[in-house]
Amino acid sequence: MRTPLIAGNWKMNGSASLVEDFGRAFPRTVLPASLDVVILPPFPYLDMAQRAFADTSLELGAQTLNPLHSGARTGEVSGQMLREFGVRYALVGHSERRQLYRENDEAVHDRLLAALSVDITPILCVGESLEERDAGHTMEVVLGQVGYVMARLEPEQRPRVVIAYEPVWAIGTGRTATPGQAQEVMAGIRKYQASFDRGLAAGMRLLYGGSMNANNAAELLAQPDIDGGLVGGASLKVDDFLAICQSAG
Ligand code: G3H
Repeated sequence: MRTPLIAGNWKMNGSASLVEDFGRAFPRTVLPASLDVVILPPFPYLDMAQRAFADTSLELGAQTLNPLHSGARTGEVSGQMLREFGVRYALVGHSERRQLYRENDEAVHDRLLAALSVDITPILCVGESLEERDAGHTMEVVLGQVGYVMARLEPEQRPRVVIAYEPVWAIGTGRTATPGQAQEVMAGIRKYQASFDRGLAAGMRLLYGGSMNANNAAELLAQPDIDGGLVGGASLKVDDFLAICQSAG
C-alpha cells in the first residue's frame, strides 16, 4: 500500500507570515490518517518553517540542492546544509530548473544522488512540453527522463525515489491534464518500472503536478496510479492546500 504524498512547492513565492499561517492551520485541521504532507518553501524560510511546523505533521522539502556537500559554489546550497534544517525531501529536475537553469539529465542525476547521500528523499520531476505532446512523443520524453536516472542507480537506491509527472504545458497555466491523460502517462511510468522490478513499481509513489487545485484534486487523486500531488500555485493558499490534502484520503 502506497502512502499518499501531497507536496506544496512555493517556488520563489511566500513570506514569513505564510509560514506562520501554515504552522497555525495544520494542527487545527483533520487530515487523512495515512498521508504525508510536505512544504517546500524558499531556502530563507526553512529555519523559521522548521520551528513553525514543529507541532504539525508537516514535513519540509527543498526546491533544489547542489550536488556537492560544500565548496566554492557561490549562491548554492548543499544537501548537508538542508538536513540541518530538517529537510526530508528535495525536488530534482523540476521543469523550471531544466529550462531556466539548463539542468540536463546528468545534472538531475547528480542532484538526486546528492539527496540520497544525506538521506533526503528525491522527488524526480519529469514531463513533456506541449510541442512534444502534440508530436506524439510524450511517453518517449517522460520515460527517457525517468530511465536516464533510474538506470544509473543501484537497485537498493531506486525504491527511495518519488517521481512527479508534470506536463510542462500544465504548470502554472490553469490547464490541468485530464485525469485520463495523467493516469495514462503515470500508468506508463509504473509499467516501465515494472519491466525492471515489479516490487519497485508497485511500491513507487507517483505524484501528478500541473495546475492541481482544490476543485480538481479529488478526481486526479482517485486515479489508480496517482499517489499524490506536487502543487504549485494552490499551495500558497492555506485553505486550498488543506482542501487538496483532505481529498487525498
Ligand atoms: O511544482 C509544482 C508544479 O510546477 C505545479 O505548479 O500547480 O502552479 O501548476 P502549478
